[in-house]
Amino acid sequence: MSLTLLVESNPRIIDIYLLNLTTYVGLDIMVVSTVNDALQVLDKQPFKLIISRASLEQKNLAELIAEKMGQQQLSIPLFVIGHGVYPKLATGVLGGSLDLKGVVKGAAQALGITAQQMVQKKVDDFFPIHSRYIQLINLPPTDLFEKSAEGQFRVIAPAHQKLDHSTLPRDTFFYVPKLERLQMVNLITSELISQLDDKDLNPDEVIQAGVSNIELLSKKLMSIGLTEETIQLAKKSMNSLAQNAKINKELGKLLKRMHANQASYLFLHTQIVSYVSLHIVKHIDWGTPEQEEKINFICFFHDIALENDIQAKIKSKEELRKSNLDTREKNLVENHAQIAAELVHKYPHAPMGVDQLIRQHHGMLNGIGFADNFGANLSPMAIMFVVAEEFTRIIIERENGPYDVKEMAKHLKATFPTSRFKKIIEIVEKITF
Ligand SMILES: [Fe+2]
Ligand SMILES: [Fe+2]
Repeated sequence: MSLTLLVESNPRIIDIYLLNLTTYVGLDIMVVSTVNDALQVLDKQPFKLIISRASLEQKNLAELIAEKMGQQQLSIPLFVIGHGVYPKLATGVLGGSLDLKGVVKGAAQALGITAQQMVQKKVDDFFPIHSRYIQLINLPPTDLFEKSAEGQFRVIAPAHQKLDHSTLPRDTFFYVPKLERLQMVNLITSELISQLDDKDLNPDEVIQAGVSNIELLSKKLMSIGLTEETIQLAKKSMNSLAQNAKINKELGKLLKRMHANQASYLFLHTQIVSYVSLHIVKHIDWGTPEQEEKINFICFFHDIALENDIQAKIKSKEELRKSNLDTREKNLVENHAQIAAELVHKYPHAPMGVDQLIRQHHGMLNGIGFADNFGANLSPMAIMFVVAEEFTRIIIERENGPYDVKEMAKHLKATFPTSRFKKIIEIVEKITF
């Protein structure tokens, strides 16, 4: 195994890297968390790779490492993560630490390991995972095994059944069948990401965590429904969406950052529709501050039942009919507004009427299917959201811009020609990119 030095101070990110880099690339990793330790350990160990934060403790850590490598004539690939100064000799850089595909790929490339070698890597039939990681999950996606003193494996907890952590041994290893190890590792990774606090993350990482959290939460809400755990995560995600919409004064910047981080369509559209609808409510004459909370709920939950970007892009009966989705998926798309509305209806202390608004977000009062035109019986808030969604769709179509707001508004006027929409479209036209 190749010894890799990881310099990172966030304990959860350390765990994420340990888990993923050992599983995917088979690295043997030594972790240090301070600038001092990083510089001291350099001349003591023969590292094959260094993965380091660009900056730590307000110092340009990667630069310092590069300098020291120069002094000692060390030639070790240096992979730099996070914002800050990137030294010239860096073999790779990533702005956000939670681009795990990028980290795995970068580490493998630096060590000359090919994708094929990673796939063909020899793995024992049972893959060990430390109990401290298992403590993070409640519903194991695979059977969990323990190993007896004689080396026999036996199931200690079956797949898809709630784990009783009080009965599980601590400080030991559990095992999962080798073909199912990535499923387990990916779930633990998502759980670790969901525990990160936005305030410890840079703006790229906030987006990467947002993508992961909405996916994790959607799966959990659809399987276990509302629990203390899912409610907490929902609150955190809603907060993050609103903050992101507020911090970024210009929508164009936020969009660029999201595209640069390859945000999923589902997350991208949830974040942008939050921005657009918050803007509308702030400027429309019937808007009140309380409605901001409503907007948060609508934006976050309205498509939460959807599982992937293909489902999320469907916006009409015709598109649904023509899609290649199987019957189950078509049913889900058809009913997603209704499913989300029911979920929010049960959400403790959700703002009044949010479930109704979610039900109407494709113009149908009962939350089933897609309306051809938007009836007079929709509430003003539902109308506002329909416009915000359509505008979001137009923006996302433009990818990295340019975003000509007048030109985009022209499309809106053509889609929504009646007077009910006029005022809202005028407000949308004032969004700055
Ligand atoms: Fe949507
Ligand atoms: Fe929808």
